[in-house]
Formats: sequence, C-alpha cells, structure tokens
Amino acid sequence: MLGFRGDVAVITIDNPPVNAGSAKVRAGLLEALGALGDRNGIKVAIIIGAGKTFMAGSDIREFGAPLSDPQLPAVIAAIEACPVPVIAAIHGAALGGGFELALGCDYRIAQPGARIGLPEVGLGLVPGAGGTQRLPRLVGMEAALELVVSAKRIDAQRGYDLGAIDALSDGDILDDALAFADTGLAKRPLHAMAIAPFEHAAVKSLSAKLIAKAKGRPAAEKAAHLTLQSLEHDLRDGLEIERAVFQDIRITPEAFAYRYQFFAERQASKNPFDAQAKTIAAVAVVGLGTMGAGIAYCFLRAGYKVIGIEGDQDLLDTGLGRIDALIEKDIAASRITPEAAQSMRENLLGNASIEAAKDADLALEAIFEDLAVKRDLLGRLSAVLSPDALIATNTSYLDIDAMAEAVSHPERFFGLHFFSPAHIMSLLEIVSSTSSSAGAIASGFAIARKLGKQPVFARNSYGFIGNRIYAAYRRQAEFLLEDGAEPPEIDAAMIGFGMALGPFAVSDLSGLDIAWRMRQAQAASRDPKARYVRIADQLCEAGRLGRKTGAGFYDYPNGKPVASPIVTEIIDAERRARAITPRTIGSHEIQARCFGAMVNEAVLLLEEGVALRGSDIDVVLVHGYGFPRWLGGPMWHAAHMEPAALDSAIDLAAQAEGVTFRRGDAATALATLKNQN
Ligand code: COA
Repeated sequence: MLGFRGDVAVITIDNPPVNAGSAKVRAGLLEALGALGDRNGIKVAIIIGAGKTFMAGSDIREFGAPLSDPQLPAVIAAIEACPVPVIAAIHGAALGGGFELALGCDYRIAQPGARIGLPEVGLGLVPGAGGTQRLPRLVGMEAALELVVSAKRIDAQRGYDLGAIDALSDGDILDDALAFADTGLAKRPLHAMAIAPFEHAAVKSLSAKLIAKAKGRPAAEKAAHLTLQSLEHDLRDGLEIERAVFQDIRITPEAFAYRYQFFAERQASKNPFDAQAKTIAAVAVVGLGTMGAGIAYCFLRAGYKVIGIEGDQDLLDTGLGRIDALIEKDIAASRITPEAAQSMRENLLGNASIEAAKDADLALEAIFEDLAVKRDLLGRLSAVLSPDALIATNTSYLDIDAMAEAVSHPERFFGLHFFSPAHIMSLLEIVSSTSSSAGAIASGFAIARKLGKQPVFARNSYGFIGNRIYAAYRRQAEFLLEDGAEPPEIDAAMIGFGMALGPFAVSDLSGLDIAWRMRQAQAASRDPKARYVRIADQLCEAGRLGRKTGAGFYDYPNGKPVASPIVTEIIDAERRARAITPRTIGSHEIQARCFGAMVNEAVLLLEEGVALRGSDIDVVLVHGYGFPRWLGGPMWHAAHMEPAALDSAIDLAAQAEGVTFRRGDAATALATLKNQN
C-alpha cells in the first residue's frame, strides 16, 4: 500500500497477523516502488508494517514449493535501484526475510524493543536474500557470524549498538521515521561498503565455536561459510552464491522437518477449548525441592507473586535458598538485572504453613511422587483456598483422576507438568483430568504463554505423553541389555540416531530412583506375562542411583561416564538367570527397536485420545526428550520413512516385548502427516 506524507512516500506492508512476506506482499512492494518513479518531488521512501510488526520473515509456508516471482532479492534490488533513499521503519519484529528487507534499505530506524535477527539456521535454512552478505558490511564479521550462526534474536537497541540500526524511535514509529526522513538523507548503497578489518584467527575460532554450539542444526556450518565468504566476493557475486545455497537447502528433508516443527509448536500452543482463562496474580508453590524451586522461579521471572510453602522452617529455608541461588546465577550471567532480581525477591513470600496459600489464585503442588501424600495435601489445599482458586499438580506420571477425587470443586484441578530443570526446559504438559473444566485448561495455556513455555495438551494417562513414550523407549533399551547389547553400545547407537543423549546416560543424569519407585508402585498391577528386566532394580538395590551417587549404569571416576565392571556382572547374571545367550546387536537393530517402541506407543496415545494430534507428540519429544528436531519428531519421521522399514522396526520391538505388546494402527495414525510437507 502506497501513501504520501508531503514529499515522503510511505509503503505499508499489511498482511496480518505478522506481515509474513508472501508472494503477494513482495508483488505489492515491487509495485509501490515502481510507482514512486511516476511521482515528482518525492525525497525519501519509508517501508513500514501495519499492525503489530514490521515483518516476521518470509512466509515460511512457501519454502516447500517452487518460489513464485517476484522473489525477495528482486524486491531488494528495486529498493537499491530506487532513486530516493529508502528507510525501514521497524516495530515489533524484523526477522529473517523481514530483516533482510530492512538490510536492503538505505537506513533503518527501530523501536528499541523491536526484535531483529536472522533465525533461518533455527529453521534448517540459511538466509537467502543477502543476510549473510550485507550484515558483515554493517556490523563487522564477528557480530555478523554470531547473529547468523546462532540464529539469535536481539533487540533493536543492541542492533543500534552494533551498527545494524541507524536511529531509535521511542515514540510513534511512523512519526519518528518521518522526522528522520527530514534529516537530509542521501542514498547509501551497501555494496560500496567494505567489511571492517578484523583478526582472522579470532574469527576462525569464533566460527568453529559457533558451529559446535549449534550441534543438531545442519544449516549452521553452511551459514558460517557463506558469511565468511562475503569477504572474498563483491556483493553481487556473494548474493548469488548465497541464493543458490538457500534454494538447495530449503527443500532438504531436514528443512521440511524444521518447518513442520515451527507450525507444530504454534498449533500445540493453542488452547483447544473455547473458554476464558482465569486472571492469576498470586501463585502458591507447595514443595520447594529442586523442581518446586525451579517452578517458583519461573513464576517470579514472569512477574507473578509467589508464596513458597514447605513443611517446616528448615525445609522452607533450604527451599528459599534454592530460589535465591537461581536468582543469583541469572544475575551473574547477566540474564536478569539487579533491579529485576530485587522485584522478584519482593514478590516472593515464604511460609511453613499451608494456610499461607489462602490468597493465591493458583496453588501448585510439587511435592514428591506419592499418590496418598499428594491426595492428602490436595484435600487440605482445597479447604484453605477460595473455591474458585485453581489447583494444579506437577506430577510427572501419577493418576490425576485419582488426585482430583481429593479436591473439592474438582473442575478447577489440572496438571501442569514441568520438566527438569524447570527454569530452563521449555516444555509444559497441560494435563486434563476427566473433571477439569475448560476454564482451568484455558488458564493453563495462558500461564504457559506468560511463562514463555511451550504448552502441549494431554489427557490423563500413566506418564501422560512424554513419560509414557519415554518409558516404552527405556523398556526396549533394557530388553536390548538383556539380549546382549551393553549400555555404551546402546547409548552410542541412539546418539548416532540423533538423540541428544543415550537412554542410560539420561537415567544416570536424572536418577534411577524415580523410575524405580514408579515400577514398585506398578508392581502389583503388572501383567505377570510382561517381560520385565530387573537390571535397573538391582542397580538401585546396590545403591547405584546415577550420577548423584557417583555410579549408575556407568561409573564416574573423574566425572566422566565409563563402563562399569559391576554393571557388566549384574547384566551377565541376569542374562544367565533368564537363560538368554547374549548376541552381538548392531546399531541398526538398536535404533530400529528403540524407535519402533517409541512410535508404537505414540500411536497408542493418539488412539486413546491422550494426545490430540501427532504433531503435539512431536513437540513433546523434541522439546522435552532430546529427539532430533531435524527429524521432525517420532511421528513425522515415521510418516516419512519407508513404510516397510517402519513396520519392521515395530515388528522387532514387538518380538522383543513378547505377548503383552499392544500394536497400534500406525498407518492410520500417520496418514495425515504423510501428506503434509
Ligand atoms: N511465515 C508464515 N507464518 C508465520 C510466520 C512466518 N514467517 N511467522 C509467524 N507466522 C504465523 C504463525 O504460524 C501463526 O499462525 P497461526 O495463528 O495460524 O498459528 C501467526 O503467524 C502468529 O504467530 P505466533 O508465533 O503465534 O505469534 P507471536 O506474536 O507469538 O510471535 C513472532 C510473533 C514474529 C515473534 C513469531 O511469529 C516468529 O518468531 N515468527 C517466525 C520468525 C522467523 O523465523 N522468520 C524467519 C523466516 S525466514
């Protein structure tokens, strides 16, 4: 849309909700730039976004198919060829293609809080419209490398400090851009600008460091290479090389998987029910162990008032100390300012009595995993709180319908399952009991948004979505142990598959005792025909509870995991007791069995309605369990592999488990994902 304010042309991008740069937007920009030439007396042009943002990026939906003309480089070329200086006036966000559009302008003015950056590497891509070539010319090689390879978003204030933004606007962005336009601007083509001198060795080592840090992001190395190449070519050649790499990479399976995750995350973030969220100002967190303290800190960071409650004064002091340590750590790392820390401390009250929860709008229990103890606490909380206050549990696997029975007005009760460490992990399962109201669930989604967490809806089930799939995976890994594979072989195979850590390294890290307690609680109801591996129980009985006891599936002589002769002995004895002749199991079989077990459990969760959609399951596994994002998630990966290979993986998992294996209908569950790209 083209308008005029005196001798300034104002081109407005208007494509709600985030002004994504679609083919229509690009055509509109080109048309407006072309029309400028027909009007005499125009001195400057401003490109601005309507609504809440400048431009959130190119339209990601278009990247899977041949791109329609005009493409972004043509729009930027028209800006450069435009006879008058062009200003990008940025509010909200200028990301990816949006930032590249702004970099193609002669000047950039922005509101200090606007988010700018090149998130492409985080989407399995490289910038394709000059980001890697123009940015080094503006901000220098080191800052450009950092922004491109880490895909970090920064605010415009920082962009101004780096030289990417020419002026800041603390008022109305259009008014300030018009005032800026009146400062006698001249055309300022970037191709004439040289990259500031820098220390080559330092840049090389920075690049290697950034690539290593971007582990699991296949585009990082290419993006670093392109940025470094900007030195060797003039801008025009550099742009061509960059475009060619972008065109290749955007249709790789990894890029499809990344884009799928992007939309899966947004889909999962939507409250599935049509209901109003309750306004929540004060939150009581009952239980300030590692988990509870981390959760309390999440709420404090998001500006809530928090009442931290523990059973007695000593426990309370320790719990409040844990929260304080988290605050101190974030101050030390400059993640929060001392002023923000001060206001968090003012918002935190500690109390050794549950009565202190009475004014809370939400009470969340994070005490240890024991159904009877939790039910008792929930009953007492119900009596203390006002009847319309919400009550949530952070249980990671217990039956929340059984907990709801202890709550008066059980419609206000639901699960908020945080992952450990709660202040770092993004995932939050929002769990509905059979009596949770739509309003309670809506409130869970509103809380997740305020906390900056990735919510996923789940219905009650043993372990909800994530822990149930993970338990199936871990069981299969234990069958492999009995059948002949050693812990380091299984861990290495799963890292080879793409998991962030192997299953036994994870067990050692999180502690073997939680799963042990879970198995003990299940013992009475376990099907006697079920294949049950006793190795982990025996490690626990021997006091090997994982890293915290210095030994688990591995020994940790110098803090690093090494294979343990004691564990080998325990495994050998179990194999003998079961009359299993151990055989060598290759990494392919390990990966197939573990993956087959995961997918089958995921399919069952869908069939039972525990998960609403396959993509929600993928969000859970990628965000909470180290499943590789470049494979999209177990459901996406299963839907895009050879059907025969998937069947055979599930067959192998089924054979290992034996008669109790319940097979889901994978073909039906995966059908919608198969046709998606
Ligand atoms: N292309 C296509 N659609 C996009 C998009 C893009 N670049 N960016 C956002 N959207 C869509 C979302 O899918 C969502 O659609 P829906 O409502 O149908 O689900 C809608 O715009 C709103 O996005 P959402 O992320 O929920 O809004 P927000 O206000 O929380 O965040 C942003 C706004 C800009 C910070 C965020 O959308 C974002 O990070 N976008 C991607 C930026 C990016 O990676 N750009 C580089 C592309 S090369």
